[in-house]
Amino acid sequence: MDDWILEPSVHSLNTVNPVRETVSSIKLPTDFPKPTYSLALGDPSYYPDFAAHSFVVDAAVEALRSGQGNGYTDSLGYGPARETLARAYSYDNIRLTKDDVIIDIGGTGAIHTILQVFLNPGDNILISSPGFPLYKTMAQNLNAEAITYNLKPYSNWEVDLEDLERKVTPRTKMIVVVNPCNPCGSVFSKEHLMDILNWAEKHHVCILADEVYHGMTFGKPHYPLGSLTDTVPVFTVGALSKIFLVPGWRCGWVLIYDKYNKCEKYRPAINKIKNMLLHPAPFIMQAIPKIYENLPENYFAEVMQKVKERAEVVKNKLADVAALNTGSPEGSLYCMVAIDFINMDVKSSVEFAQKLAQEEGVVIMPAEAFLSHSAFRIVLCHPIHVIEECMDRIKSFIQRHTV
Ligand SMILES: Cc1ncc(COP(=O)(O)O)c(C=O)c1O
Repeated sequence: MDDWILEPSVHSLNTVNPVRETVSSIKLPTDFPKPTYSLALGDPSYYPDFAAHSFVVDAAVEALRSGQGNGYTDSLGYGPARETLARAYSYDNIRLTKDDVIIDIGGTGAIHTILQVFLNPGDNILISSPGFPLYKTMAQNLNAEAITYNLKPYSNWEVDLEDLERKVTPRTKMIVVVNPCNPCGSVFSKEHLMDILNWAEKHHVCILADEVYHGMTFGKPHYPLGSLTDTVPVFTVGALSKIFLVPGWRCGWVLIYDKYNKCEKYRPAINKIKNMLLHPAPFIMQAIPKIYENLPENYFAEVMQKVKERAEVVKNKLADVAALNTGSPEGSLYCMVAIDFINMDVKSSVEFAQKLAQEEGVVIMPAEAFLSHSAFRIVLCHPIHVIEECMDRIKSFIQRHTV
């Protein structure tokens, strides 16, 4: 029987998600004398103030009860849901039809589908640092590369356009723009998005607009990239996950904004990929028309008011901490806090996170999990009193470690 020791594939072992790897190195003490908190979990459904609304849940229950959602359907997704999404995300400059919408298995599935059709081995995509690490994991899985371009921590995490210019290569197939941003909590102005579009036009690079946090802003409008260009092809990723607070439903989509059919050949390629993995649970897709029909006018404003209140607590509490800079969070569910280590006896954000967990019973996500350094991400979903308590503990930690 000894000769039955089997080896997994090289490619499975080479698949690395930096978030999981980093989180596993941050451990809370088992015997901490006070309650411990994690500000790292980006799943809104876990927090009492961010439960899914009844108009969302009822739509899915009704669809499930109808008995019409138990079978397979079109591998690009349930037709009426695609029509709803096409209407919801059409803009003055471009009208989408159902054929421009592919429903996928979460935002993750949508990203996977796009990367599968864009990347040959040796190609690359440009992703931000800090940025959403899954892009790197998936690109590497296709024997392609994810090259990082910098966001500027002290200019509200805008794209460093000079760095972008340095990073593009003849094999660059796409630039990924996450807006509103996970992990930074920033929202790009229209002018800044136009700069990115002009850059993409100049280099003939398509855009993957990750708008999983579409409309989730406070104090600043969200401009979807597809609404700002006629000439640069934009593949937008969206999902029910964060906007309707149901990430476990695993329902996302790709929207193709390509007025002049520059990416015509990608459509049959997408069909082929989708015929392999198919779609999310049909009853979830069947809920989509009802969800959008019943969407209350003030829905996003109400959800985002809660995020805003938490962001203000973080900003106010940390305002007088010289080593930390919260910038101005404006959207998504997060705040990215830049750390200046110059007067500290801690020298990396991973070390910061490990010691903070041990000494203060608070878990934060160090920037290394987001392909960056010298910063950490806070999720803005806990009850306010928990955020206040955690900020006080972070302040004590910094005082103790300032030299
Ligand atoms: C920027 C970004 N893109 C994509 C995703 C993946 O979305 P989903 O959970 O629907 O797979 C997430 C999830 O956190 C995200 O933050």
